[in-house]
Amino acid sequence: MSLDHAQFRSKYSAFLGAHGDRVLLTGHSHQAWPDVARDALTQCFDDAARFVDDKWEHAVFPRVTSVGERVLTRMGFESTDAIAFGKSTHELVSRLFSCFRADKRPRIVTTKSEFHSLYRQLTRLEEEGFEVVWVDTTPRAELADRLLEAITPGTSVVAFSAVLYEDAFIVPRLGEILARAVEVGAVPLVDAYHAFNVAPLAWGPAKDHVYVTAGGYKYAQFGEGICWLRIPRDSALRPVDTGWFADFASLGSPRTRDVRYGGGGARFNGATFDPTAFYRADAVLEHFDAFDLDLTALRTVSTIQTRRIRDGLVARGLSALIASSDDDARRAGFVAVRHARAGDAVTRLRDLGVFTDARHDLLRLGPAPYLTDSEIDRGVDATARVLSEL
Ligand SMILES: Cc1ncc(COP(=O)(O)O)c(C=O)c1O
Repeated sequence: MSLDHAQFRSKYSAFLGAHGDRVLLTGHSHQAWPDVARDALTQCFDDAARFVDDKWEHAVFPRVTSVGERVLTRMGFESTDAIAFGKSTHELVSRLFSCFRADKRPRIVTTKSEFHSLYRQLTRLEEEGFEVVWVDTTPRAELADRLLEAITPGTSVVAFSAVLYEDAFIVPRLGEILARAVEVGAVPLVDAYHAFNVAPLAWGPAKDHVYVTAGGYKYAQFGEGICWLRIPRDSALRPVDTGWFADFASLGSPRTRDVRYGGGGARFNGATFDPTAFYRADAVLEHFDAFDLDLTALRTVSTIQTRRIRDGLVARGLSALIASSDDDARRAGFVAVRHARAGDAVTRLRDLGVFTDARHDLLRLGPAPYLTDSEIDRGVDATARVLSEL
């Protein structure tokens, strides 16, 4: 791979050139958008003006299809697999849980390290009668064993992140866990948000049967309002939460009390959506393709960058604080540093022009392919200085 870094970086003039000398170590939460995303917003407006209500057929749905195909490929699936879009992963995951009735006490296996939406939603569903098994994620080394043990016959859903949002830990033996879920008749649901466009996942023998959600806000550079759910071809789940985009084909027929679902990913569709995110996604995917930045290339860049952050922290005497794995194979797109005052560190770093974020006591430093080595070093330097002062 030979990325012309200067040329690539020049495509981010709005985020990287127009707002002073700052270092965006926000690669794990909000990557900079390339300038083509801005042009795409205008294009969306212009298409609405030109086509009015015909824009869906002429301009929006073709983009949805094309984005879907390329997103599936980047997740390691067939481009023709079923996929549904929503404005958040929460929307899609909630729709999936709406397929299960609380009065039947469905058993859900999940972990204690899920992102807030899933944690909150499952906690609330627990109140309604769902039985939720919360698997401990520490120590990380035996996480896969604990998950495998928890997936017993009678489990309805196994819902967990393939990469943990706290420290970018890549859950080991993913394929085995998913195969175990399928073996006991459970729906396997993977949150792959912290893997998309940064770390490849090995789906294993149950690949065809997995439901996988991810979104555009972080490593994809698409921005907000576009998340997706990969759906097994033979899915027969019937979401209770269902809108008219779930079955366009029946719109012309007389209404019946028999709620049907369309083919492909349609059964997980909602209703009218804001198409601007698809214009951005389409343009950004083209931009990645133009620089040959497929998942393998992005992973290579990311691993070198997170290793540089790790090594830099170690060289500055902070190895005891590093929470993310030292093993490249187990560390996805960022490096987390444990500190009781992580939130204060974010504020002080911001004053120094270094953008980071924190979750609980973890300060997260996320590189991105447009960053230079000297920017990364400046961010690490500032982090070491701030942490020594706190
Ligand atoms: C693992 C993970 N899943 C999901 C999300 C986002 O969820 P939603 O799309 O529901 O806002 C995040 C962070 O934004 C996350 O870190």
